[in-house]
Amino acid sequence: MKIRKMNIEDIGAVIRIDQTSFSMPWPESSFITEFTNPNARCWVGVDDTNVVIAFVVIWMVLDEAHIATIAVDESHRKKGHSKTIIKTALQSAYLEGARISYLEVRESNQIAINLYLSLGFELVGVRKAYYKNNNENAILMTLTDFGIINQ
Ligand SMILES: CC(C)(COP(=O)(O)OP(=O)(O)OC[C@H]1O[C@@H](n2cnc3c(N)ncnc32)[C@H](O)[C@@H]1OP(=O)(O)O)[C@@H](O)C(=O)NCCC(=O)NCCS
Repeated sequence: MKIRKMNIEDIGAVIRIDQTSFSMPWPESSFITEFTNPNARCWVGVDDTNVVIAFVVIWMVLDEAHIATIAVDESHRKKGHSKTIIKTALQSAYLEGARISYLEVRESNQIAINLYLSLGFELVGVRKAYYKNNNENAILMTLTDFGIINQ
């Protein structure tokens, strides 16, 4: 998988992956808005034929890098792609000055929690009934040691 910045032509593929990955997918307008958001850093992973198979959106605020969303196409999971794209995005954020990364994840999403733990994120709190479609709690996770990311 090759990683590059997301561009407007990628939106169709990104939305397809998003809609098959989340119970509350982003509307198309949200992705389009990110192209004019000065704090957004949007990345895609593409396969050998330049098809988008993964994406991540990071919001930069001062020294914080907030992972807003990440997904890998269902048929390309369990190959290490999410780790690769997150590492690339956070290495870039680190070079821009990020020294902490944080995210919210559904408490039922053990696969994603495992992913973040494997990258050095820690569980730091719970946001009660954060997800409005089913009132599910969010687990708040933070990364303060960018050592693993920069390996
Ligand atoms: C979560 C997601 C991005 C992981 O993508 P992936 O490319 O398949 O993950 P990777 O192959 O890079 O695996 C990274 C780690 O995730 C965890 N993981 C991945 N798949 C797993 C599974 N089926 N069961 C348990 N843990 C799993 C493991 O810790 C793994 O590390 P390891 O291989 O060293 O054990 C992917 O499942 C996805 O897109 N899910 C839907 C969207 C989503 O939930 N996004 C996160 C929102 S917070």
